[in-house]
Amino acid sequence: MTPRWLPPENPLSPEHFQAVRRPLLEAETMPPWTYTTPGFYAAEVEKIFGKTWNFIGRAARVAQPGQYFTLDFAGIPVAVVHGKDGRLRAFANTCRHRGARLLEGEGEIAAIRCPYHSWTYDLKGALRGAPEMEDTACFETADFGLDEFRLESWGGFLFLCFDPSVPDLASFLGELPELLAAYDLENMVCVRRKTWDIACNWKIYVENAMEAYHVPTVHAKTIQRQKRTISPPLYGETGQWSGLYTKHEGSRALEAGDTGFPYLPTLTGPSAEGTYYILIYPGTMLALTFDCMWWLEVHPRGPEHMHLISGACFPKAITERPDFEEVVQRYYKRWDRSIPEDNVISELQQQGLRSPFARVGRFSIMEPLVHSLDNWVLDRVVAPSV
Ligand code: FES
Repeated sequence: MTPRWLPPENPLSPEHFQAVRRPLLEAETMPPWTYTTPGFYAAEVEKIFGKTWNFIGRAARVAQPGQYFTLDFAGIPVAVVHGKDGRLRAFANTCRHRGARLLEGEGEIAAIRCPYHSWTYDLKGALRGAPEMEDTACFETADFGLDEFRLESWGGFLFLCFDPSVPDLASFLGELPELLAAYDLENMVCVRRKTWDIACNWKIYVENAMEAYHVPTVHAKTIQRQKRTISPPLYGETGQWSGLYTKHEGSRALEAGDTGFPYLPTLTGPSAEGTYYILIYPGTMLALTFDCMWWLEVHPRGPEHMHLISGACFPKAITERPDFEEVVQRYYKRWDRSIPEDNVISELQQQGLRSPFARVGRFSIMEPLVHSLDNWVLDRVVAPSV
């Protein structure tokens, strides 16, 4: 075999991906260099994360006027601010003077004051103060407000979009809100949010989350003991999502043998008999089971680096039970054991794919959503065939 020491000269050429484009059981996996090379990653940032609705967690993080949180999404510093007028806005977290990052972390503010030379913006992003700028020719504060990104919500979750031209969030989600309506996500309460720093490409993590093939091996001591019947994959017809549905007994948010909270009384049909694992493209996984929901949110940070944010929501009435803190520890135990198992295997896959001797592989019948994610990426990143 011949090692590949460098990525191909034109990594976006369709010729590299003809085998990924075949039907699942005839297809090959993505070329290893698509998980490691800056050129391919830069195209993903521009053509995927720069043009889609990116999931960024619960709106309740900024429930009160003046509250804010910051994030770096695919290298873009963003501040989400709850204005005094009650509106949530997402701003470029970059000063209009000489570009300093404005806000850090999360908290509560009356105004946005730059830590460099004290230009000050109100919570609508308008520049209100710029010291020593009176003598500067043709300088109008009205021309130097913060850039605002699009921000919309569904089910209590925020979605961020950097592109003013793409259709709205409802078009992006399609039929998904209707499919998940019985879970009443809007009125759930986020009880925990955790961030993990992981040395792998974002696709590796999402691919892993959307196949159960690895479960008997990677999760042999944890969720492998859960018995399940996996149905054919789900694909959004109008929305940008796919998913798995598994029929089973007992909450999927608990390890086998543990008992938890009562089930949601609003569930009927398939949602009362199993669990949905939904991928909202490109990188958010929602798991909806009998008594709660949890999510995994992938924030790409480079070709071989990402942040994972895991969160969990329960119905408000459940969180008000006197035994909530005691019982919820069983759920935390399940997530705190299984998520690190996925983190470790994702980093191991990255280390293997980094080798110049890494080669393309083949898919099993258990990996349709890996194959469909890879093709979804190629549809957006790779130049169309001629
Ligand atoms: Fe912000 Fe100078 S860079 S005030």
